[in-house]
Amino acid sequence: MSSTIESTTRPATAAAGKGDMGRWIDIAALDDIPPRGARVIRTRLGCIAIFRTHDDRVFALDDRCPHKGGALSDGLVHGHAVTCPLHAWVISLEDGRVQGGGEGRVGTHMVRVAAGRILIDASLATRNAA
Ligand code: FES
Repeated sequence: MSSTIESTTRPATAAAGKGDMGRWIDIAALDDIPPRGARVIRTRLGCIAIFRTHDDRVFALDDRCPHKGGALSDGLVHGHAVTCPLHAWVISLEDGRVQGGGEGRVGTHMVRVAAGRILIDASLATRNAA
């Protein structure tokens, strides 16, 4: 089961590249998410699942399956995809598209890792998190 990252959002400074200040928000250390795991952050657009894959890539998707709303953060991460815990639809972490038989797409969001920190697009931040 995933957990929620709380009160760790702060403006990215040293971790972001030059010229990026204000564009990225530092939400957590990469090691706060285990490989093949996920955490949830609350944003102004709703809950977003942050996934870490086996090869330490990080992806951010809406935490809602396009089938019947299952929490993707509770799903099984494999390769660069996640299997929904409710009815096993497989969602690409790279583009949010449903793979296999289902139809639909999950919203994806900008996320990056710098100096061991996970950064999300600052425009997702809630008023309290900025
Ligand atoms: S809610 Fe995700 S597969 Fe049904």
